[in-house]
Amino acid sequence: MRTQVAIVGAGPAGLTLAQLLHVEGIDSVVIENRSREYVEARIRAGVLEQGVVDLLTTAGVGERMTREGLVHEGIELQFAGERHRIDLKRLTGGKTITVYGQTEIVKDLIQARLTSGRPLFFEVDDVRLDGIGTTRPRVLFRHEDAAHELDCDVIAGCDGFHGISRPSIPANALRTFTREYPFGWLGILAQVAPSNEELIYSNHERGFALLTMRSPQISRLYLQCRPDEDIAEWPDERIWEELHARLEVPGWTLAEGPVLEKGITPMRSFVAEPMRHGRLFLAGDAAHIVPPTGAKGLNLAVRDVQLLAEALTAWLRKGSETLLDAYSTSCLRRVWRAEHFSWWMTTMLHKLEDGDPFAVRLQESQLRYVVSSESAATSLAENYVGFD
Ligand code: FAD
Ligand code: DHB
Repeated sequence: MRTQVAIVGAGPAGLTLAQLLHVEGIDSVVIENRSREYVEARIRAGVLEQGVVDLLTTAGVGERMTREGLVHEGIELQFAGERHRIDLKRLTGGKTITVYGQTEIVKDLIQARLTSGRPLFFEVDDVRLDGIGTTRPRVLFRHEDAAHELDCDVIAGCDGFHGISRPSIPANALRTFTREYPFGWLGILAQVAPSNEELIYSNHERGFALLTMRSPQISRLYLQCRPDEDIAEWPDERIWEELHARLEVPGWTLAEGPVLEKGITPMRSFVAEPMRHGRLFLAGDAAHIVPPTGAKGLNLAVRDVQLLAEALTAWLRKGSETLLDAYSTSCLRRVWRAEHFSWWMTTMLHKLEDGDPFAVRLQESQLRYVVSSESAATSLAENYVGFD
């Protein structure tokens, strides 16, 4: 087999790249080691920056998102038993966010890919990258018991944090930056109308909690927990009890419903630099991870491949390597802004493990500043809605 761009991984990064290249008439082959059912059911992020919504719409995959996505003009921050609204739209000159599940984006992108007639292989095995330091890279893999060799011009490593692309780069050619947090998130999907119109990020003495949603009928809720927490120790009643305690304020109650799904997400910050080695370009979680508090992971993945698609188009169509050479530096500028914002939101909103009283007072002061100063609120808002 031969193609122009071999794409490893059919998550948001790989599938969006495939669609953007298709729109430009550039050939690609996407390979994914999981099944279609599995990737379409994997519950993850839900908040999209306006720039990401605009990009997906321009790429021709925004029709259902426009119909079913929930446009939000603000978020609420809760601490010391009070709610404070951050008016994202007013503070950012009109920008909003859209709540639309990552699962739905992935379904829409897979549908678009199948409609394009271009190749997408699920359930591949033994994926290996070859010749990434040469001008003739190859991807080797097995599919339905047959061995395949895919010759290409470039490889896009969109295979997430645990994929094989980043480890295919010689260790001495990469610099990595990591921060582990002493907490995780326990997330549930519940069949109940969201109890609030907007997201609530709550700093509470029992730990952080977040109310978000997927549709007018489905709520998504998160609780700060230990990183090594055993989900078996969290029967539904215990989860609801903790959510009530951390989210409720006088005059407002949290409605319960059947729990459809639950899981624990570890929290980590990670960046690998540079995001390119020869003919291999990393995008999305393959290159960087943020803790979820800033809602940036999915948005960064899409923004990376936006730049990659533009750069590949300029190179494959006009022979210009300028954008490809700038790819890593351009991405990393946005990535580090999101790393800082996600770290900042995380440390401001979570219960700090050691309960250091000095740190707790600083946290309270920071929260009061954010909700009382126009400049501080604007800084949070412009980061949250994303930079274009
Ligand atoms: P992924 O979505 O990880 O896609 C990578 C794909 O590559 C996967 O389909 C994988 O199966 C495939 N793959 C892996 N290895 C191989 C291989 N060897 N060969 C072929 N294919 C391979 N972000 C938020 O903003 N908010 C959240 O609430 C949030 N919750 C999350 C919960 C969890 C459990 C996780 C893991 C992440 C969460 N994120 C969240 C982050 C967000 O979902 C990711 O940033 C986003 O999925 C990144 O997209 P991606 O395409 O780069 O990677
Ligand atoms: C969601 C996830 C996040 O990490 C976040 O900060 C906001 C919303 C969500 O799943 O909807």
